[in-house]
Amino acid sequence: MLSNSDLILVAGATGGVGQLVIAKLLEQNIPVRALTRSANKARKMFGDKVEIAEGDIRYPDTLATATKNVNHIICCTGTTAFPSKRWDFANLFQAKNTPQAVDAEGVKNLVAAAPKELKRFVFVSSCGVLRKDSFPFNILNAFGILNAKLQGEEAIKASELPYTIIRPARLIDGPYTSYDLNTLLRAKTDGKKAVVIGTGDTLNGETSRIDVANVCVECLNYEVTAGQTFEIINSGKRPPVTDWEQLLAQIV
Ligand SMILES: NC(=O)c1ccc[n+]([C@@H]2O[C@H](COP(=O)([O-])OP(=O)(O)OC[C@H]3O[C@@H](n4cnc5c(N)ncnc54)[C@H](OP(=O)(O)O)[C@@H]3O)[C@@H](O)[C@H]2O)c1
Repeated sequence: MLSNSDLILVAGATGGVGQLVIAKLLEQNIPVRALTRSANKARKMFGDKVEIAEGDIRYPDTLATATKNVNHIICCTGTTAFPSKRWDFANLFQAKNTPQAVDAEGVKNLVAAAPKELKRFVFVSSCGVLRKDSFPFNILNAFGILNAKLQGEEAIKASELPYTIIRPARLIDGPYTSYDLNTLLRAKTDGKKAVVIGTGDTLNGETSRIDVANVCVECLNYEVTAGQTFEIINSGKRPPVTDWEQLLAQIV
């Protein structure tokens, strides 16, 4: 069970899922360190409610301070599947923040920087990593995002760290990039569809960023999720209360 003596590093803190993860942790009074490429941006979002560590997962020597003394890491970093400004083009032919650089090499760097006694490394991967040759994942993977996510997953599994790998489908809701923390804390799943969990990369559909954030935090409360990889989508009528214990028990 998470407690206020834990310290959780959230990588990708300023992203849609990352912000919601932080809001959920703060709501439970769990201490958070936000890993960000821009301390200014993170400070504007979270004020002094979280510790801030500046770092870039492409560069291993920027990660030692960020990972020091943390006992859980939730990694929700990512870049776009298709070329965009977020790829940080040096020139027309050379991009620096590509899926390969972030989702494969960057995740390997973060794994390598994790404390040996880490209790859990939670990684937000993607549905389709085992279906890269079938539609629509063959299109999504045109620039290698699913190859890179799978490499990230493999690096985590090859490490000695306890892990949970979460594969959402197309993300909806958010990313709330212009909202403040109070708004995030009010982000609700009312009226949204139910959470469906699966294994073996067979699910299709869409996933609320709110539920990706929920499951990133909830899985830390259930030992059954250690060493597991599972998919999450939203489908069907949502019950008044989501029973995470029951949902997560299905993955073994
Ligand atoms: N979009 C989809 O439909 C979809 C589907 C399945 C899975 N996913 C995955 O879901 C996760 C969360 O998605 P999202 O929409 O919340 O992502 P997002 O809003 O694009 O956020 C990505 C985060 O990663 C950070 N980041 C990017 N490059 C970095 C680097 N080199 N070093 C450190 N941090 C870096 C960004 O920080 P800055 O503020 O510094 O840019 C940002 O905080 C991602 O892993 C994504 O791949 C997405």
